Amino acid sequence: MAEQKIEKDRKIYEDVFDTLTIRTLQTLIAKKKIDRILGIIKSGKEAQVFRALTPEKKLVVVKIYLIETSSFQNMADYIKGDYRFKNVGKNKRRLVYLWCAKEFRNLKKAHNAKISVPNPIAFFNNALVMEYIGNQKEAAPLLADIKPKDPKKMFSTILKDMKKLYFDAGLVHADLSQYNILVKDEKPIMIDMGQSVILKHPMAEKFLERDVKNIVNYFNKQGLNLDHNKILKQFEKKL
Ligand SMILES: Nc1ncnc2c1ncn2[C@@H]1O[C@H](COP(=O)(O)OP(=O)(O)O)[C@@H](O)[C@H]1O
Ligand SMILES: [Mg+2]
Repeated sequence: MAEQKIEKDRKIYEDVFDTLTIRTLQTLIAKKKIDRILGIIKSGKEAQVFRALTPEKKLVVVKIYLIETSSFQNMADYIKGDYRFKNVGKNKRRLVYLWCAKEFRNLKKAHNAKISVPNPIAFFNNALVMEYIGNQKEAAPLLADIKPKDPKKMFSTILKDMKKLYFDAGLVHADLSQYNILVKDEKPIMIDMGQSVILKHPMAEKFLERDVKNIVNYFNKQGLNLDHNKILKQFEKKL
């Protein structure tokens, strides 16, 4: 029965995934991290994000990093300054696997520091399983796709999480904007932490500045009157 199902799933997956990714998904199924993939949430250049079911019938997300189309140079630059990931080498597949492991670790660190992020559940090769943010029908929208009811409150929650990420988890998100924040019940949830860096990364300061600018610009367009230099000063202690 289970084998029949895997065989049926394999036929469906073949249209979408390469052989290695199918094996990766089968390993996640064998490890009982997921039972089946349901459907796609978003397809991008570097990753495809799916809804999946666990054997306990819980909805989860599987983010699959694409090996062929991801930007090797870009990834290598983010990983180079991070002592946790030495010996990157020139193998693209290995780099993508490392990237996936890196997103898992970054999300775990953030989650442990009580920041609103999807709880990471497991990873294997280029696939990351994490908590699904959304309802039975659909995934939660991006901040970019809604209008916050109380921008001031939303901003202050995001800033609090950015500070926790910085001071408690020791990370800078490095791609924070309205496009990497989901909103559920008016609460912001940061996603997409593959590129997040430790504070010792030579570009950490620049990335933090950019994150702050993006968020400040977005909320000023929502009617707030924030000064990004003042906000940035609140992060000064550790830089
Ligand atoms: N845990 C999650 N729950 C629900 N939707 C998610 C989750 N993670 C990602 N998504 C959706 O998938 C999209 C792409 O995910 P993201 O991690 O931002 O990857 P990338 O931007 O690198 O393609 C997001 O914009 C969001 O719509
Ligand atoms: Mg994203």
